[in-house]
Amino acid sequence: MSEVASVLFGREDIRRRVEELGRAITGDYAGREPVLVSVLKGGTVFLADLMREIHLALEVHFIAISRYGDAEESMGRVQILLDLDVDLAGRDVLVVEDIVDTGLTLSYLLSVLSARRTASLEVCTLLDRSVRRIAPLTPRYTGFDCPDLFVVGYGLDVDERYRNLPAIYAVEDVRMLQEDPGLLAPMLVGPDGG
Ligand code: IMP
Repeated sequence: MSEVASVLFGREDIRRRVEELGRAITGDYAGREPVLVSVLKGGTVFLADLMREIHLALEVHFIAISRYGDAEESMGRVQILLDLDVDLAGRDVLVVEDIVDTGLTLSYLLSVLSARRTASLEVCTLLDRSVRRIAPLTPRYTGFDCPDLFVVGYGLDVDERYRNLPAIYAVEDVRMLQEDPGLLAPMLVGPDGG
């Protein structure tokens, strides 16, 4: 534990919740073959665990986007850097996200995807920081409600670091961490201390 960040959702909490989400999705999509769409890079750790808890035939595809400034400046408008290599027409699409914050990026992305005439289009997010929502958007599946604190770990980064932390940490002072990115390094130590 450090003063810069503290555990918000531990490994075991995440494991249990991901299992529950997988069970719900397995039931809801029974008889169908969903297409999971993950937005690089934050959602990939969640996706890797979630897909193994969904006991159905499914496909996984990735999309990479870049924002024009922050979500509010850009009103969610994004440039697609890497597009999906699958035809979504008539498919049951489930977008897998790390966190929905203002919802601006995701609602723009959903409008792009729904124009491809999907049979259904839903969102599964690990974290929902609904207090900051600007775009009206309610994910069909949510892992945890997230307080209005910057979070890192389990796919979520600070300037590209710490995606590999196995738990989710709330960062008390993001600026301090940006100035000294080494501050969370002690948390990367493995169970054997190595
Ligand atoms: P939105 O358009 O404001 O909903 O932005 C959502 C995206 O911003 C997420 O997919 C994350 O990549 C990033 N993001 C938002 N909040 C955090 C955070 O607390 N930690 C790390 N990334 C975040």
